[in-house]
Amino acid sequence: MNDFISLHDCTPEQISGLLELAIKLKKEQKAGIPHPLLKGKTLGMIFTKSSTRTRVSFEVGMTQLGGYPLFLSSNDLQLGRGEPIYDTAKVLERYLDGIMIRTFSHQDVLDLAKYADIPVINALTDLLHPCQVLADLQTIYEKKGALKGLKLAYIGDGNNMANSLLYGCGKMGLDCAVATPAGYEPDAEVVENAKGDFAASGASMLLTQDPAEAIKDADIVYTDTWVSMGMEAEKAERVKLFMPYQVNGALFAKAKDDAIFMHCLPAYRGYEVTEDVIDGAHSVIFDEAENRLHAQKAVMATLMG
Ligand code: CP
Ligand code: NVA
Repeated sequence: MNDFISLHDCTPEQISGLLELAIKLKKEQKAGIPHPLLKGKTLGMIFTKSSTRTRVSFEVGMTQLGGYPLFLSSNDLQLGRGEPIYDTAKVLERYLDGIMIRTFSHQDVLDLAKYADIPVINALTDLLHPCQVLADLQTIYEKKGALKGLKLAYIGDGNNMANSLLYGCGKMGLDCAVATPAGYEPDAEVVENAKGDFAASGASMLLTQDPAEAIKDADIVYTDTWVSMGMEAEKAERVKLFMPYQVNGALFAKAKDDAIFMHCLPAYRGYEVTEDVIDGAHSVIFDEAENRLHAQKAVMATLMG
């Protein structure tokens, strides 16, 4: 593995390897056992979008690995004033041992990875959010004791989370049902690619407009904001359109009795999910957030070690 840009690029064995390492690093961290696998290494962290979890978990994770995290805001980088990605990549590779980037265009991340001779980690684009889904797979495994054979239902906007969950489920053999309004389905190219992953693992993929159909027999119920970063202007229109896809108590009750509720956060209570569900006994949202730390440490240690 040279970069971590999409779970579709990973083999199931590579994903399992990352999850095993994440679980091991989590145990070591909780036991107070030092694990300086990246001593003396530096990770550049480029952000052109906001973040709470991603920034803090990468900074803390790099520090726990004995390395140095360098926050690079696009407001300050020359990249934000029009310096080409090519030049930025060729310069940064002379200083850094790895780059983490959160930005709008997925193509920009692909270009950065193509030009930079150091590992590049995708920390969210408009298309994908693989670090989140790796942490989510860890959380599902910890809660359910398995991945293969489970059913995940994603209800809401066919956004970067829906796309990455399709890849994650397809690779690791979870059945995945996605319910979105018409016109807000997951990315068509991702769906095509994911078909191959589902065929290889033997799991099923369902795209529907009916949340009740998607959630039936689900072990995991997942939702995300209806207004992703960059879509703020569409908020009013989206809230009206997506309200029938709200994960509330009545809808959640149609999943399995022991279903868990997941959300990458930030969440908007009263919109994509109601308080009784997100703050209820089945919610594992803060375990997901914690596992960002451990899963990303596994990614950094694997790519940069
Ligand atoms: N889930 C997630 O990536 O959160 P942040 O936007 O706070 O980083
Ligand atoms: N879909 C959301 C995820 C935030 C972590 C967004 O892109 O804003």
